Amino acid sequence: MQSNRLKFANIPTEFNGLTINSFEVNCYQEDFNRQIAKKAKQMVANYIHGFDEFAQTGKGLYFYSEKRGSGKTRLAVSLGNVLLNKIRRQVKFITSIDLLKEIKNTYNEESEYTESQILETITNVDVLIIDDIGVEKKSPWVNEILFGIFDNRMKYRKITIFTSNCEIENLEHDERLKSRILKMCIPVKMPEEDVRKNIAKSENEELQMRLMEGKG
Ligand SMILES: Nc1ncnc2c1ncn2[C@@H]1O[C@H](COP(=O)(O)OP(=O)(O)OP(=O)(O)O)[C@@H](O)[C@H]1O
Ligand SMILES: [Mg+2]
Repeated sequence: MQSNRLKFANIPTEFNGLTINSFEVNCYQEDFNRQIAKKAKQMVANYIHGFDEFAQTGKGLYFYSEKRGSGKTRLAVSLGNVLLNKIRRQVKFITSIDLLKEIKNTYNEESEYTESQILETITNVDVLIIDDIGVEKKSPWVNEILFGIFDNRMKYRKITIFTSNCEIENLEHDERLKSRILKMCIPVKMPEEDVRKNIAKSENEELQMRLMEGKG
């Protein structure tokens, strides 16, 4: 049962089992970014603590920062892991691009699933993590699909967690869609610092040292 839920959640391997505790505050170089990270981490801890209440009002979280690699997906997925493993909710992770792609694929005659099967799953799951909302190409079709999903999730007070490079107000979606997202989520500002780059740099430096020392 738990393994089925885990499989269904589809959390990327990179983030499997990651916790809120291991979300580092000190990996940001700038002090003000460490403060923002600390606040974001605390907000997530408080959200988990008060989850029953938030769940009743259907409020999720919206992690945003313009900078890539700042830890948005990392923190959103860590929250998803807690909701899945400790609070025992059904969780589904998907990027907005993959979601639209999966729906589009159902228009193909050989598709295993129908459009309404995918929409039903995405609309009904207890906790939906939509990664990177805003990067998908905008079109009336995209608006219609996303509006249908979020309008229903809002009506049934289902929790949706988003990550984005864009504040909700600045998303290039139509106003009806944006006002649903605003209503469904509490915004969580993430640091404007690329931790991915910092981590890659120190990893590479270490590997470079090993190569130079010839220790393999
Ligand atoms: N605070 C942190 N503590 C530990 N690891 C972190 C932290 N923030 C980010 N990382 C790691 O850095 C990498 C980039 O983080 P992540 O993918 O969450 O960034 P992102 O903000 O979602 O980026 P993008 O905008 O490109 O989607 C990941 O490998 C992640 O595990
Ligand atoms: Mg991300």
